[in-house]
Amino acid sequence: MSEPEALTYASYLHLRELLALQRPRSEPPEHDETLFIIVHQAYELWFKLLLHEFEKICDDFRQDHLYGAIATFKRNRMIMKVMVEQVDIVETLTPMSFNSFRDRLETASGFQSVQFRELEFLLGYKRPQMLKFYQPGTPGYERLIRRLHEPSVVDAFYAFLGQHGVTIPAELRDRDVTLPTEPNETVEEGLLRLYKTHPDLEILFELMTDFDEGFQEWRYRHIKLVERSIGSKHGTGGSLGVEFLKKSLFHPIFPDLWAIRHKL
Ligand code: HEM
Repeated sequence: MSEPEALTYASYLHLRELLALQRPRSEPPEHDETLFIIVHQAYELWFKLLLHEFEKICDDFRQDHLYGAIATFKRNRMIMKVMVEQVDIVETLTPMSFNSFRDRLETASGFQSVQFRELEFLLGYKRPQMLKFYQPGTPGYERLIRRLHEPSVVDAFYAFLGQHGVTIPAELRDRDVTLPTEPNETVEEGLLRLYKTHPDLEILFELMTDFDEGFQEWRYRHIKLVERSIGSKHGTGGSLGVEFLKKSLFHPIFPDLWAIRHKL
């Protein structure tokens, strides 16, 4: 029997496959299309990691692992910062350069990113109307349906708060998890009390707020990127473009953490 090949950097990371995945569609190739492809692929990898990390946070919350949740929120907030910074690279594409291959994207758009929508659903921003942009029966569609029907990070957060003496009203405990997160005054009262009495929980709540702010910052930077690249043109995904994106601009993931700040 022949010896199994020794593991190498390239074989461990499947680099042959990974580096064969950047395939510009422009003919003759437009120089900047490579950047466009690599940036989007990098974002998809970050989305994948965030999904992985937020699943862990859900488990941490349910099992009351405060330090685990703190460590992972710290990581996710750093990932978010890198994701926001990556927009700077895309902004080195000029509108004319982008236009040189934009037609080749046909109707493809970040709008169709299954992982981005999964992330929104997992974070509790459930917009079932978005499902109509995905093809039923495809693995991506099935993943989205599963995420829609699963409790979100916010539902797991309620479970965590319940273990720390916060009253979670029955309408939240038994809620229809396919609906988006709504702010709740009883939860806010409990959060306020914990903020003032438990410095360790305060650290967690601030990290959650950091992540939330980072996610909104990404939306803002993406909108500005879109505005400077295509102005008032419609998106390749068929939406109104900037006008559509503005609707979710200031949408908070943890509305209760924002609602109490003037009382702290
Ligand atoms: C020149 C660069 C870019 C332009 C012009 C652009 C344009 C747009 C437009 C117009 C939309 C609205 C949907 C549509 O009609 O297509 C959209 C959505 C989206 N784009 Fe981009 N985009 C760019 C770069 C990026 C990058 C680098 C990412 C990173 C993954 C990204 C991810 C997304 C996502 C996730 C959505 C859906 C947002 C939502 O539904 O709230 N885009 N983009």
